Amino acid sequence: MMSSITISPSISCTGAPIQTIDVDLLMVPWFEGEGPAAVPQLDAASHGEIARAIGSKEFSGRAYDFFVSTVGDSSWRARRIVLVGAGQRAIFGADSARRLATAVGLWGRQRRIPRVGFFLRTDIAGDTAELAQAITEGLILADFDAGRYKTKEHDILPAPTWTIVAANGEDAANRANAGVVRGQVLGDCTNLARMLGNEPSNTLTPREFAVQAAAIAGETGVQVEVLDEHQIARLGMGLLLGVARGSSEPPRLIVFRYEPPFAPPTPVLGLVGKGITFDTGGISIKPADGMERMKDDMAGGAAVSCAMRAIAMLQAPIRVVGVVPATENMPGGRAIKPGDVLRSASGKTVEVINTDAEGRLILGDGLWYARQLGATHLVDVATLTGACVVALGKITSGLFGTPPDWVEHVRRVADRAGDRVWPMPLFDEYREQLKSEIADFANTGGRPAGSITAALFLSEFTGGLPWAHLDIAGTAWLEESKPYLPKGPSGVAVRTLAELAFTKLEV
Ligand code: BES
Ligand code: MN
Ligand code: ZN
Repeated sequence: MMSSITISPSISCTGAPIQTIDVDLLMVPWFEGEGPAAVPQLDAASHGEIARAIGSKEFSGRAYDFFVSTVGDSSWRARRIVLVGAGQRAIFGADSARRLATAVGLWGRQRRIPRVGFFLRTDIAGDTAELAQAITEGLILADFDAGRYKTKEHDILPAPTWTIVAANGEDAANRANAGVVRGQVLGDCTNLARMLGNEPSNTLTPREFAVQAAAIAGETGVQVEVLDEHQIARLGMGLLLGVARGSSEPPRLIVFRYEPPFAPPTPVLGLVGKGITFDTGGISIKPADGMERMKDDMAGGAAVSCAMRAIAMLQAPIRVVGVVPATENMPGGRAIKPGDVLRSASGKTVEVINTDAEGRLILGDGLWYARQLGATHLVDVATLTGACVVALGKITSGLFGTPPDWVEHVRRVADRAGDRVWPMPLFDEYREQLKSEIADFANTGGRPAGSITAALFLSEFTGGLPWAHLDIAGTAWLEESKPYLPKGPSGVAVRTLAELAFTKLEV
């Protein structure tokens, strides 16, 4: 299914003078309200075209607007300059640079420009390496093709060759280059997660998901172990097995270990991802409308698998374990039914009120297993609740967890990684909604605060460890194309999870 794992376009850095850059066109970010002299030499090279366009308001620097000018100056090797609107300077940072780069990447790719330069302005605030990393990630995100099963009328647009031009000379180019190397890995790994999310459930079964995830992470030195249904049964994972009962496809538990010799024994970051390769809802079946989207219900598991790859490639300084419970949620003849009681690997019992609340079930066993592997800090990622989409829409992932310092830490890392997240409360009073007459608790808590009660369910399996939960139900799949990201799978959380392994795990 996967032809090659690494698909990133070529990106290099240079600090050479602007006239000598040998590209077909040079992209230059431009802020709102800037005059033609904002970047020296450009207007002269355009023979006054830039001044004219700004004067006439044909181009104003509004985010994602483009203005193309030919280069009149024959001492330049680039034949065209393209100003790309960067919006307001005051709010521009690594996050906007990443988005701008994706817009630029899509523009260049759609026009089949072979060689594009990206001008890294010296007067943009922030660390050069960090900016170059974000730009690289953005350019690579533009190079994702979602149409792999099309047999005709499908132009596979090649990615341009990119040159990042550091305006400050060789020193800046070297600093930028460190960011490019990092950005390339994180961009590639995000695209791999998008590829997995895009894959239909008839090809990406739980077994195939395990094969793919093992290839993605295993290639880089992560130890990968795939447990089959018998091993899962021996571990007593009644929640994962319960969900898997309705399907003819057996479940898998995908386990990753990154334990480099130079890493101290603790902390151990534990990443857990929801790996439902298709969610019909089970006996509490979903309506037909939009159900095809539920092939992406393994986006959290894809994020964990692909983050593990990045973590190993970039040689994170700490130990990391990953756990992805993978199964279909189907309404087969042996499927669990509302009212059934399941026993988790941790020993706690659950009354299944709604078989469509399956993500929290498999994650309960997954979180428990991450603890058995020695995790000291937990983060789980899941397309968990429609209620989270109601609360935060499709822009922002819900962030839950405990204690507040750990949640805040994850929030900051996500911010830097370009994954929009926002904290949601886990007040104890909400727990009442999960009361069951027959078992320790129920798997649903009714409509009010649906994303919060789902998170509270998960908290029953975290053993009191620092734990953060990302509900990516709204953000894993873009329904509409944005200038800065095409529609389809987003690869959300890959970079956040990977970057976490490079931070000091406080608390
Ligand atoms: N996978 C869904 C959540 C989801 C909804 C993801 C929309 C992406 C887009 C999850 O398994 C689910 O079905 N949740 C139920 C829970 C309910 C039965 C308590 C939901 O949100 O409706
Ligand atoms: Mn469901
Ligand atoms: Zn689901």
